[in-house]
Amino acid sequence: MTIDFEALRRRFPVLERKTYLNSGSYCALADTVRDAFDAYMEDRLAVGANWDVWIGKNEAVRAAMARVLRVTPDEIAVTTSASAGINALASALDFTGPRKKVVISDFEFPTNAQIWHAQEVLGAQVVHVPRAADGYIPLESFARLIDDRTQLVAVTQVCYRNGARLDIAGITRLAHERGARVMVDCYQAIGAMTVDARALDVDFAVGGMLKYLLGTAGIGFLYVRSGLIRQLVPSNSGWFAQQDIAAMDITANRPSRSARRFEAGTPPVVNCYAAEAGLQIILETGTDVIESRVRVLTRRCMEGLAAIGWPAVTPMDDARRGPMVAVPSRDAAGLYARLLEQDIVTSFRDNNVRATIHFYNSEADVDRFVAAMAGHRARFGPQA
Ligand SMILES: Cc1ncc(COP(=O)(O)O)c(C=O)c1O
Repeated sequence: MTIDFEALRRRFPVLERKTYLNSGSYCALADTVRDAFDAYMEDRLAVGANWDVWIGKNEAVRAAMARVLRVTPDEIAVTTSASAGINALASALDFTGPRKKVVISDFEFPTNAQIWHAQEVLGAQVVHVPRAADGYIPLESFARLIDDRTQLVAVTQVCYRNGARLDIAGITRLAHERGARVMVDCYQAIGAMTVDARALDVDFAVGGMLKYLLGTAGIGFLYVRSGLIRQLVPSNSGWFAQQDIAAMDITANRPSRSARRFEAGTPPVVNCYAAEAGLQIILETGTDVIESRVRVLTRRCMEGLAAIGWPAVTPMDDARRGPMVAVPSRDAAGLYARLLEQDIVTSFRDNNVRATIHFYNSEADVDRFVAAMAGHRARFGPQA
């Protein structure tokens, strides 16, 4: 099946006005996602409270998210953020035994470091895998730090600062050989690439819906491998985490037999409407197709930048790159602002301007960005 990317692109109105290279912060809004928000409002106006439909929406998000990750709905908790998912998982771990170590990397988004450091009061020992001189983190560096005292390796799939992709399958192999479990923070990858939780063999995966999954803020997910769910009892809980929500039992905590035990309170209803619509687009288009398209566009962007003498810090190797191209600048904030004046929407972290690319971007978007960068090179290029 050939995908008509031009037709898909027309479903995201902001693309007519902006060169939108910012999906790693927040996706462009699709027509059907906007309709979904409107449908929620209609529901509120027409019915008031429509709980049966709303719980159905939450379950639809769970089912769709399971399809994206290629797992079963029972293995998915629908959360309110990636942080909420990590916290729920952390609350189910025991750091009083011999496995106190949590191995994270220098590439982590803050939340996936801060939450693990927060477990230090409960006995956790957090170890950071450093980046090598070339800016990447090779498997050998993980091999040096994952050992028989490691309980969890909690790592990002794609680094939010430089766009580098870690070898999650390789890290998982290593960790499992040494008896440790693996949680992948796939937020900067999922929706723009195929993230097959079974193929990667990870035990846990977290992310959210506002970036490449085309949804909105305020909704995320935690995947928990089926064989582990019943072994883990989160102390971070609530009524929607119970096996029988309607029982309203205040005498005990009876967690759901599914990954729903990692949820807490009332689902984020309006966000479920939007997330369902966003996930639908991802599933209809197909993550393999999206990944190929994104690879072509990021490669074009990297080659274009190299050709103007301003190479990205993101690895050129397709296997080591996600949907982000990060470009070093002596004044990333200033460069971001100048690009914005030209209607080119990027973002910046540290000393890098980030072009984050989705399937709805075009070759013309990439070329416009590269041409603008050529004009800014003298003033904003990296420090000599
Ligand atoms: C890789 C990564 N992990 C985690 C987060 C934080 O997610 P949340 O705000 O849903 O907790 C982000 C947000 O940008 C991210 O890029």
